[in-house]
Amino acid sequence: MVPRPRPEVEAVDLCAHGGVRPAELRSHGVDPDSVLDFSSNTNPLGPPFDPAELLAASVERYPDPSAEELRYALARVHSVTPEHVFAGNGAAELIRLLAIAYLAPGDRALVLEPTFGEYALSCRLMGATVVACRAAAERGFAPDVGEVLALIGRHRPRLVFVCQPNNPTGHYLDRNEVSAILEAAPGLVVLDEAYVNFVEDAWPSTSLLPAGNLVILRSMTKDCALAGLRLGYVLAAPEVVRALARAAPPWNVNALAQRAGVLALKNAGYLERSRRLVREALGLLREGLETLGLRPLPSRANFFLVEVGDGRGFREALLRRGILVRDCASFGLPSYVRLAARPVEECRRLLAAVAGVLRGGAASPVR
Ligand SMILES: Cc1ncc(COP(=O)(O)O)c(C=O)c1O
Repeated sequence: MVPRPRPEVEAVDLCAHGGVRPAELRSHGVDPDSVLDFSSNTNPLGPPFDPAELLAASVERYPDPSAEELRYALARVHSVTPEHVFAGNGAAELIRLLAIAYLAPGDRALVLEPTFGEYALSCRLMGATVVACRAAAERGFAPDVGEVLALIGRHRPRLVFVCQPNNPTGHYLDRNEVSAILEAAPGLVVLDEAYVNFVEDAWPSTSLLPAGNLVILRSMTKDCALAGLRLGYVLAAPEVVRALARAAPPWNVNALAQRAGVLALKNAGYLERSRRLVREALGLLREGLETLGLRPLPSRANFFLVEVGDGRGFREALLRRGILVRDCASFGLPSYVRLAARPVEECRRLLAAVAGVLRGGAASPVR
């Protein structure tokens, strides 16, 4: 008989994610190489270097197990010491490692929802109880920070997950709100800044690192359009970095990803140019959708929500036209889709396809 896994492993539901799944596309007669992907929120500018440059990294030797060159480069960028930096195989791995390092069965973790599903999944895998603080649509999905503080007081969570700006709502908390959460939390506060490099006039969260219980999470996957390669990092107190190093598998960041990170950090001006493109693309999308009778929600991120009636049906209808969007049922928002910034030409094609879908009656504009 095949032995059963731990009950926590059996009990979790896998998370839905955006991105291209070739088998699904082929079943719709869509070529995975030519689909327009508005469902994953990566940098629309593409990587900040020629991918051929990565081949200078050895695939024959093991990568540096402590990713030193990359950590030193990141430390310089963020004005911290390398002991405050830990690199991971994407931010997703770091979320899992934080749960492994800090949660045991019976512990509690607080998650500000609706949000990225991997926080709750990682906590549940460790046997922890997830306490959710859900922002209401009527408040424009702004979290009720008073309620967050009350839940922290009542449940004393070992981890608090705050996505900043939030996926999928694009809400961005101000410095005072994050400070208040840090002060109230008895354990670590994970501030997932996977999308912060696309926020205009973001405030510097590293100024809150001296609090000691702040863990900043970054995704170079998102920043630099490296979704196929995967790279993320944590900025935190050296004690947290040491705990993550113990929990991580050896050589967790491959040699090409380490080199990609170092090369990306040398490209001055790339992130500024990316923000400019995001601004232009989102402006065009918003205006176009409003003209079609839809109402995109405000967002500080490189994506936004729009209510379409039946999110799943809308996604299917666009998929038949070779375009992928993120239906938001897995966030508990079945009437919304999430659209990411893409190059302007692709945005025009999306708008034309949305016009076709609306004419065909596959979605009802929410006015
Ligand atoms: C909020 C958030 N954090 C982390 C991740 C994962 O990032 P990475 O691709 O670097 O693992 C995602 C990906 O969708 C995300 O939305």
